[in-house]
Amino acid sequence: MDDTLAFIDLNRQRFVDELVTWVRIPSISSDPAHAKDVQRSAEHLAEGLRSLRAGRVEVWPTPGHPAVFAEWIRAPGKPTLLVYGHHDVQPVDPLAEWTTPPFEPSVREGRLWGRGVVDDKGQVYVHAKAIESFIRTSGELPINLRMIVEGEEEVGSANLDILMRDHARDLEADFVCVSDTAMFGRGIPSLCVGLRGLAYVEVHVDGPAFDLHSGTFGGGVLNPVDALARMISSLHDEDGRVSVAGFYDHVLPLKEEDRAQIASLPFDEAAWLRSTGAPAPWGEKGYSTLERVWARPTVDCCGIGGGFQGDGAKTIIPARASAKVSCRLVPDQEPEDIARKLAAHFERMAPRGVRVRVEFLHGGRPYLAPTDHPVYEVAKRAFSKAFGKPTVFMREGGSIPFVRTIADRSGKPCLLMGFGQPDENAHAPNEWLDLENYHLGIKSAAYLYDEIGQMRNHG
Ligand code: BES
Ligand code: MN
Ligand code: MN
Repeated sequence: MDDTLAFIDLNRQRFVDELVTWVRIPSISSDPAHAKDVQRSAEHLAEGLRSLRAGRVEVWPTPGHPAVFAEWIRAPGKPTLLVYGHHDVQPVDPLAEWTTPPFEPSVREGRLWGRGVVDDKGQVYVHAKAIESFIRTSGELPINLRMIVEGEEEVGSANLDILMRDHARDLEADFVCVSDTAMFGRGIPSLCVGLRGLAYVEVHVDGPAFDLHSGTFGGGVLNPVDALARMISSLHDEDGRVSVAGFYDHVLPLKEEDRAQIASLPFDEAAWLRSTGAPAPWGEKGYSTLERVWARPTVDCCGIGGGFQGDGAKTIIPARASAKVSCRLVPDQEPEDIARKLAAHFERMAPRGVRVRVEFLHGGRPYLAPTDHPVYEVAKRAFSKAFGKPTVFMREGGSIPFVRTIADRSGKPCLLMGFGQPDENAHAPNEWLDLENYHLGIKSAAYLYDEIGQMRNHG
């Protein structure tokens, strides 16, 4: 282990340089124009893993973008860890707001700037470099390890179920580790023990067959933009609660001990608000901010459009309007059930005079970790060794569909050991990775493998 840690120190700069090379590949999964780049990103990662004496490295094609699989099964009697990450990245718009180009990563202020540096290429490399450090120093890993790196996470993991069915045997493990979340704050090692799920729909509202002259027809037919605005504003009541019938039916109430644990974290509400730029907090009455963003379900209008958007004035009654609406879900809400209830709500609210159609875009299920399993203590110990601080439990409001899917299929606990920072601009312009965190992350992964390798009765 000492040799491995020394190797990580010695190769600190090279590990950054190699990440830079991967980040240069613009693997934007949502943009068909970048499909070749997502493929290239998978092949680049596979090539790197192949040089690490993996037993198998494969690029798994899907009807969409490919995933990368690798395994090192050479530690008889030791636990098997399955590591998950994703190599696809978010789009870069608005491009003009980037200080340096998103796919020409650069280092400033101890940070690496570029699209995908933290979400999630840097976090995948944390594991790849920990693996490399063991292989180059002792020739082997202290555990058996499998790795799957998906290429469609940012677009809803539509083909993940197929991959997991077709490769069920390849993905068998005693524990799962996902590094795709952020730490509670700078220097605080944090295990994420809850993720929200997602149900995403698009609402289409159609009125007249084409844009009408608002002088000739205004006042005579219903305006779809007006109808949609009313429908959207009907989603919440005065207390910030969601007004969709049945929305809270399957929500598990927060336990008193969970509320106490969340309240015990050193949360700086004012700093949090400043980081958003919003003038005031908002949300469901009766819950703290952390409770609302981690453990309560929401509905959000992510985008709305319709009618004339150009310069100047144009007098029309628009033919149509549409909105993208997403719900963050908590246990035991189900994406399909919530999408159905949302569709029923919009259909019920639709005034006479427009036609409404609700399209399901994608979904993912929420996750709550079985924290009484001994592997969480093991992971806490490993994380604390690397950062020299006690590890805290936290949740995230974001979603990683893989986590619940693998947990349900395998019945095994999933460790969410993330190395991001809450203000690292994931999905936004000027995404960055804290390079100290990257370095300590590689050590954390090494300690994790080492500690898991020493577990007894892991079955
Ligand atoms: N890494 C994020 C998940 C995440 C978000 C973790 C916020 C911690 C905080 C992941 O890449 C992501 O963006 N997920 C999407 C999922 C969706 C496209 C199905 C999300 O949460 O919106
Ligand atoms: Mn991610
Ligand atoms: Mn993401």
